[in-house]
Amino acid sequence: MLETDYTNKLLRFIKGAPTPFHAVAHIEEILLEKGFTKLFETSLWGPLEAGSYYVIRNDSSLIAFILKEDLAVTGMRLMGAHTDSPCLKVKPNPLKTSNSVTQICAEVYGGALLNPWFDRDLSLAGRLTWHDKGGTQHSRLIDFTKAIAIIPSLAIHLDREANKEKSINAQTDLVPVVMQSLKDQDVHFQDILKKQLQLEYPELQVNETLDYELFFYDTQAPAKIGLHGEFLSGARLDNLLSCFTLTQALINTEANCSSLMVLNDHEEVGSVSTSGAQGPFLASVLERLVPDIEKRQMCIAKSLFISADNAHAVHPNFPDKHDKNHLPLMNHGPTIKINANQRYATSSITAAFFRMLCERANVPVQDFVMRNDMACGSTIGPITAGETGIKVVDVGVPSLAMHSIRETVGSLDGWYLFRTLKEYINLTAQSDEWKGEHDYLPINHIQALGNACSASARGYGPVRPQV
Ligand code: CO
Repeated sequence: MLETDYTNKLLRFIKGAPTPFHAVAHIEEILLEKGFTKLFETSLWGPLEAGSYYVIRNDSSLIAFILKEDLAVTGMRLMGAHTDSPCLKVKPNPLKTSNSVTQICAEVYGGALLNPWFDRDLSLAGRLTWHDKGGTQHSRLIDFTKAIAIIPSLAIHLDREANKEKSINAQTDLVPVVMQSLKDQDVHFQDILKKQLQLEYPELQVNETLDYELFFYDTQAPAKIGLHGEFLSGARLDNLLSCFTLTQALINTEANCSSLMVLNDHEEVGSVSTSGAQGPFLASVLERLVPDIEKRQMCIAKSLFISADNAHAVHPNFPDKHDKNHLPLMNHGPTIKINANQRYATSSITAAFFRMLCERANVPVQDFVMRNDMACGSTIGPITAGETGIKVVDVGVPSLAMHSIRETVGSLDGWYLFRTLKEYINLTAQSDEWKGEHDYLPINHIQALGNACSASARGYGPVRPQV
């Protein structure tokens, strides 16, 4: 795959994935096209033959894997990302009518940056359950696709202090306007949903709609921007960029060792759920793949997990928000995330392994550590390490405006991550790079790097994007 091909597909994927449900549905399509076999948690798997498989939980989390040799002998190449992004989620009884307009009330999902949600052309998408005429319950994904709502700002004339101090009350200030209300008009949200469901699925015999998980999203499509197309801007780059990149690395590489990708929902709200990283999804799949406890522990000890979630690039207007010696730059390669307090699970061993992969892929690599006087974020890496015992390296593409309705990344960095992950999947189980002194690690290779490797590959010096 060429870089332009990668980027165009990434932009299309993000546009078509306004919710974690849609992201998983699209990735399922990609996997099926590549010949992966779907497994169901409700069925017996038995001992699986070598091949490519995937399993979905809650329509919003997915695990795909390629089985090769005996897992207890080789371990697995694991990698993970999260499917959810901060946004506004519709409340159960959402409609509110006053002053001739009808609004849809929503909760804030995750740590959203709220200011950018004003004056955007919003649409609505998610999962909807419904009863057919026989009373059987079903669920479908819906997406209004067109702009149906907006949260208007208060005019500067009515708030002269708006540019000096602006705090947002998420209960009262952030209610999207959805329609002009007419006198004596009786509007029911369930009727709006039923109409949309029948529009998207005319073949369905819908009796009544029941419950839903619906999210507002910005209809502006992600785009390549910058005078020379240096950047990508779009919603949900955190972390759909990683979901897409992991998927592409998995399907575009001749896997030389058993490999697994997990995409978890609910990272932005703490990961505790049946489908989140702190739930049992990954552990239960590993149990089924290696039912014998001792062999499973051997597999875990020989495995590695690359946790990919966007990092903070240094912001040109706010450079003081970064530690001076750790300034991830856009288009300068993936960033290894390190934290003394285990907010990131990276160790010296796993970081060195990732550097080796970047070196093999001819990709620059950077380091991130949070300033000591600021709180550090976290991600699925430490949670997965804690839940499974698998060693983790936390990495990510440097980005600006994380958790805004529109984020920015360097247009080359996802591509760099893709090439690095291809090297990872491509390492043979027998290679010295995989085995090393620590079962899976390239100790000899790292020692060689210590002498010969350039400062840039270790992230300590200036790095140049290889355009
Ligand atoms: Co994230």
